Amino acid sequence: MFKLAPLPFAKDALEPHVSVETLACHYGKHHKAYVDKVNELTKGTDLADLDLVALIRKAARDTTQKTLFNNAAQVWNHDFYWQSLAPDGGGEPGGALAERIERDFGGYDNFRKTFSETAVGQFGSGYCWLVCGADGKLKIQATANAETPIADGKDVPLLTTDVWEHAYYLDYQNRRADYLDTFLDHLVNWAFAEANLAAVTRRQAAA
Ligand SMILES: [Fe+2]
Repeated sequence: MFKLAPLPFAKDALEPHVSVETLACHYGKHHKAYVDKVNELTKGTDLADLDLVALIRKAARDTTQKTLFNNAAQVWNHDFYWQSLAPDGGGEPGGALAERIERDFGGYDNFRKTFSETAVGQFGSGYCWLVCGADGKLKIQATANAETPIADGKDVPLLTTDVWEHAYYLDYQNRRADYLDTFLDHLVNWAFAEANLAAVTRRQAAA
């Protein structure tokens, strides 16, 4: 059985930036529905024994498994999104991440502008990611719908924001740019991104 992972914070911990109502619906209904669907689609098959990332990669290579891919990827994407959020988060990162942002984006202000524009510019549903490429360079990329960088494993996600309307419509209606400002200024979990960067940097150095 694939499980709905617990939220890494209380449902009211992101107030006033993300309301209890948004989290109750986004986590309790949307995220849960993706988990339930994956279990329904894999029940009684060998796929049920795979770990979630292996399942996503297998489904991504099989054009007959698009529904399974979409739901499994949404389970992983949401787990990663919740971890990308923190009460009292946001603002500029420090340490190694600040250095890499300076090197690869020419400073935090450029990073912030590009991330926001990329997320706001994603047509329809999807995500905006900060990833580390195979060359060690940090990049910002948007993906559509359930698409996820882990499907091909080339770029390693450090951080994401969900730009599906279900992520922000109750709190921000159609103002996606305001949601992005709030995400960047008050919610980004830089400690999570930094831990992901440290892990991928170690792996790349060892390769
Ligand atoms: Fe979502």
